[in-house]
Amino acid sequence: MANDKATLSIGEKSWDFSVRQASVGPDIIDIASLYKETGAFTFDPGFTSTASCESDITFIDGDEGVLLHRGYAIDELADKGDFLETCYLLLYGELPNKAEGDAFRERVTMHTMVHEQMNKFYTGFRRDAHPMAIMCGVVGALSAFYHDSTDISDENQRMIASLRMIAKMPTLAAMAHKYHIGQPFVYPRNDLDYASNFLHMCFAVPTEDYKVNPVLARAMDKIFTLHADHEQNASTSTVRLAGSSGANPFACIAAGIACLWGPAHGGANEAALNMLQEIGTVDRIPEYVKRAKDKNDPFRLMGFGHRVYKNYDPRAKIMQETTHEVLKELGIKDDPTLEVAMELERIALTDEYFIEKKLYPNIDFYSGITLRALGFPTNMFTVLFAVARTVGWIAQWKEMIEDPKQKIGRPRQLYTGPTSRPYMDVSKR
Ligand code: CMC
Repeated sequence: MANDKATLSIGEKSWDFSVRQASVGPDIIDIASLYKETGAFTFDPGFTSTASCESDITFIDGDEGVLLHRGYAIDELADKGDFLETCYLLLYGELPNKAEGDAFRERVTMHTMVHEQMNKFYTGFRRDAHPMAIMCGVVGALSAFYHDSTDISDENQRMIASLRMIAKMPTLAAMAHKYHIGQPFVYPRNDLDYASNFLHMCFAVPTEDYKVNPVLARAMDKIFTLHADHEQNASTSTVRLAGSSGANPFACIAAGIACLWGPAHGGANEAALNMLQEIGTVDRIPEYVKRAKDKNDPFRLMGFGHRVYKNYDPRAKIMQETTHEVLKELGIKDDPTLEVAMELERIALTDEYFIEKKLYPNIDFYSGITLRALGFPTNMFTVLFAVARTVGWIAQWKEMIEDPKQKIGRPRQLYTGPTSRPYMDVSKR
């Protein structure tokens, strides 16, 4: 859009609104004064055309299949860097030099333990509780354990809360897993890197030595990097909206976790693997593709389609490579689920319905196969997504709080209910 203003006409009247240029991607029409000037609201359920904030953290070009964090492509960050480096980048805006990176790692590592009293908190849940249900509860409870970092007007407290959450989320997630399977909690080990420590806390038992496989730890780290941030998705927008009222960051991240759980968002990796296993064999794929295309059938191909990507999700490509690396390392030659996934992808990508609607595999299509091979039960998949996305939520929350123009989020509505009417006594209803 070359113009710097957009004109809106309603009947005889017209108004000019300024057009603001994005550094890359679509420009926006600034309608903040629309109601004041015209008395009308805009209507955009699902925010399909509405920018809810200004941000310089993450950029997605959905048509080209590009994802950039602070200008760096996701494939380079995943291949050449590691998760904590991406965390630093998201939080501070630049890649760290060696000293900055080391200091950051040290600071995060110092916070990996959780308050011992939290162990008791876990035992209040049923053993068969879904680990995401446990996560919603325990992350919300962090604000009851770490009061000294809930003052959002204090920059230092904001940063401590941020580091605490990045550091403690793997510990809380591993504890949810251990609790669910009835094994003792494993304390974090600060001599291990972020991903290795997580695998250790999830899979070690007190009776045996557990040696972390470096290939699997690298794969885990890549999975974390791929999920670190994804601009204004549903859970991030939830965190921003919750935070806009001045709620403390632990409460806001708990809200994000609740939103992430849904099958249209973070729950899709669990749903995708369940679907691939249900399909079972390659010969049953056409039946499922037919169902996905049937308007009268609510079934959708899980792990396919995206609100923003109308091309191959760049994270899905890296995830597919990671899947192969993990299966090779574990000596799994013929994985029937992978076989179904690859054939389903091939069929869908050549099918007119999927081509026309621009439905490509998203990150969740292959992540379930990889996570299962790493040893995680399906109900942990979304928890792992939450561990990784915590830094994105935190970076976006901090950006919002530190924006001097920040206001409480308060959407409007198109009211279609009854107009004012008198209260009717119960005997007359
Ligand atoms: N299988 C079959 N048809 C689909 C699918 C699918 N997976 N996804 C979209 N469509 C169809 C849909 O029926 C609609 O058709 P029509 O125009 O004829 O009504 C059209 O494509 C557009 O779909 P939409 O629901 O309007 O698109 P959306 O942007 O609101 O939804 C989505 C995006 C991701 C929720 C959706 O594609 C979906 O439900 N996918 C499966 C769940 C999934 O894999 N989610 C993970 C997203 S990536 C991880 C994350 O960021 O959380």
